[in-house]
Amino acid sequence: MDETKIYFDYAATTPTDQRVIQSMLPYFYENFGNPSSIHLYGQKAENAIDESREKIANLLNCSPEEIIFTSCGSESDNLAIRGVAFAERKSRQANHILISSVEHHAVSQTSLQLAKEFGFELEFIPVDHYGMIDPDNVKKLIRRDTALVSVIFANNEIGTINPISEIGKICKQYGVPFHTDAVQAAAHLQIDVNSLNVDLLSIGAHKFYGPKGVGLLYRRKGIKMLPTQTGGSQEFGYRAGTHNVPYIVGMATAYAYAQDRPDNRNSRLSTFRDQLISGILEEIDGSELTGHPALRLPNHASFVFKGVDGNKLLMLLDMEGFACSSGSACKTGDPHPSDVLLAIGFSPEGALGSLRVTLGAYTEKNHIEQFLKILPDQIKKVRQMYG
Ligand SMILES: Cc1ncc(COP(=O)(O)O)c(C=O)c1O
Repeated sequence: MDETKIYFDYAATTPTDQRVIQSMLPYFYENFGNPSSIHLYGQKAENAIDESREKIANLLNCSPEEIIFTSCGSESDNLAIRGVAFAERKSRQANHILISSVEHHAVSQTSLQLAKEFGFELEFIPVDHYGMIDPDNVKKLIRRDTALVSVIFANNEIGTINPISEIGKICKQYGVPFHTDAVQAAAHLQIDVNSLNVDLLSIGAHKFYGPKGVGLLYRRKGIKMLPTQTGGSQEFGYRAGTHNVPYIVGMATAYAYAQDRPDNRNSRLSTFRDQLISGILEEIDGSELTGHPALRLPNHASFVFKGVDGNKLLMLLDMEGFACSSGSACKTGDPHPSDVLLAIGFSPEGALGSLRVTLGAYTEKNHIEQFLKILPDQIKKVRQMYG
């Protein structure tokens, strides 16, 4: 990490933990075998995959055969949505897909493609101003011909944590597979797939100090799903392709650290988060917190500022040495407002003034203090320049 800068974008990605890197190293050169090979090289690699799968399964409270390794959270979402939608259509003519209106694009764009190109009927579950899903709305919209329901666990843009277990209970009553995108949640919240009542759950390692380019999909035994990547028998036939052994080992190591008594880390982070939120709301006129004030990720603070171009603000903050985000991917300067902020009731213009500050392992109290010192002037500058 560059010590001269302050990194406030842990929801985008995290630096790989040195202990995780150490656990991965033997699998690049010494134990480089292909887990599908019969010989000793292959067996060593296969053992590493099996151990990683078992370690993660224990933590998620599922059996190892219910874990499918993928290349990232996006792939896990794609496999769950696409794979289950087609399988449910094939087995029981279910054609209706129900997702929340604040999903990550890996879920929403995949579902939109299924609707546009493959004739599925896509319906959105509304959210309140905090981006929270009311289980009663799921009850109202779910149907016998619903192929699958997908609701994000913790929102990447606004941090709100959804009542996943209650929603899962409803889906169970209707016999409809339930998927949750836990890519952000897994970094902070303990996940037990049974108490959560989920059938499918996506995770990506780089959000919890693991390497980029590896993720997993939990798929409850018995849930029908067609593979989206074919051509090999890896991952129980659900995901063809030679295993990325070092990355899978790294993900298992990182996940064990992430799930090891997160309470202390979370209370430290939420103290910083709350200082940041109250400091900003008190000091800056025309600022509003986005997402739920209490039921939100411990490291996540997000705002909109009236009369501010969020992209310009990010550039000024970068020049001041702070790496933040607007919450949605708009690096290209595309002025398209965030779908999530629109869904929670902001106008397109208002939604462009967003800022996301996400904290993590290397955040210090003085980072928050320094940020609170410089932010009001930067906001003023943007407002003067572009107001
Ligand atoms: C909620 C959520 N889902 C999915 C993804 C995609 O994960 P990945 O970057 O591993 O593809 C992200 C990444 O930002 C995310 O925050």
